[in-house]
Amino acid sequence: MHKDDFHLADGCYLLSHSVGRALKSSQQHFTEHYFAPWQSSNKEPWQHWLAALEQFTNALSVLFNAPSEQFCPQVNLSSGLTKLLMAHPKLQQKNCKVLMAQSDFPSMGFAMQKALPSCAEIIFIPEHETLTDINVWQRYLTHDIDLVFISHVYSNTGVQAPVHDIVALSKVTNSLSIIDVAQSAGVIPLDITALNADFMIGSSVKWLCGGPGAAYLWVNPQQISNCEPKDVGWFSHQTPFEFDINHFAYNSSALKFWGGTPSVAPYIIAAHSIGYFAQLGVEKVREHNLAMLAVIHQQLAEFVVSPSASEQCSGTVILDFKQQQAQVLTALSDANISVDARALGIRVSPHIYNSEADIHEFISVVKQALKGAE
Ligand SMILES: Cc1ncc(COP(=O)(O)O)c(C=O)c1O
Repeated sequence: MHKDDFHLADGCYLLSHSVGRALKSSQQHFTEHYFAPWQSSNKEPWQHWLAALEQFTNALSVLFNAPSEQFCPQVNLSSGLTKLLMAHPKLQQKNCKVLMAQSDFPSMGFAMQKALPSCAEIIFIPEHETLTDINVWQRYLTHDIDLVFISHVYSNTGVQAPVHDIVALSKVTNSLSIIDVAQSAGVIPLDITALNADFMIGSSVKWLCGGPGAAYLWVNPQQISNCEPKDVGWFSHQTPFEFDINHFAYNSSALKFWGGTPSVAPYIIAAHSIGYFAQLGVEKVREHNLAMLAVIHQQLAEFVVSPSASEQCSGTVILDFKQQQAQVLTALSDANISVDARALGIRVSPHIYNSEADIHEFISVVKQALKGAE
């Protein structure tokens, strides 16, 4: 049923961990809210565009259960992370110590290395450690850690971190916490108010099907007044239209992280698709995703290298076909089934628009390729 709502080409698309498919209704929504106000009158379109931008934070508010003023649009996660690190006094201390994982998305590590003071220490939990295990986090998250960076989901391993337990631990160690939801938003439900992390960064490009350029930053209300962003502009100002070059006052909401004249187009597209998933319910997407993953786990059990328990697995299953990997990839490509491969194996991500028939087709092509390779 939901398949009809999305643009799907022939074949089978299992790459939602990379780019989610566009909604069929997105193009018309974009024309109406981006081009129409710009083309159809002599009035400047900003009033309409600013209202459309508000739709973006309103949609995030429903999706993550937090007031919309706690969200700020960002271009991508790296930029949002850089702004955060430079804004918080605790993270600009000379000897600041940060904990993250070797399996985090590399761009997050790059931003850390450049935005923290040069003598800051970044500790990486090594790849061999089990990131689903809170005891592992407990060993590394000690009282001297100023910030813990947690990927809700690790993009290459199909692992989901126990975010609730880690955030609870960070309160005991008095460490700040940042959650990266790039790979979980839209497939794994998250109530950010209940989680009570300090910050969250995410995007709309993957399971939320909202395209690139529409990332976001969430700031816990208890942290807002502690943050003094350095990368500012008139849209970070409490009264952007004051136009007094000698007076700048931070916006009292998360919009203090905004900056200069914002881009509009990506947020109009993303607001529409986030609204779609907020209304559908991420629980429903996850239920479907888990049902499809269960079929793969059952049929291709010996090749699965990602966790299988629902609270430990991401929306993506990782399959390692070892020496037969190349044959499997060729067979999938010939059958027009879209997946990709990383160091641990092939990544397969069933979304709400993938039917059970798609998954059976995928399994059948894999099994035939394995037989042929014998
Ligand atoms: C876990 C995770 N974080 C971050 C990103 C992307 O960060 P950015 O928006 O800065 O490109 C990705 C992209 O795949 C990701 O998987």
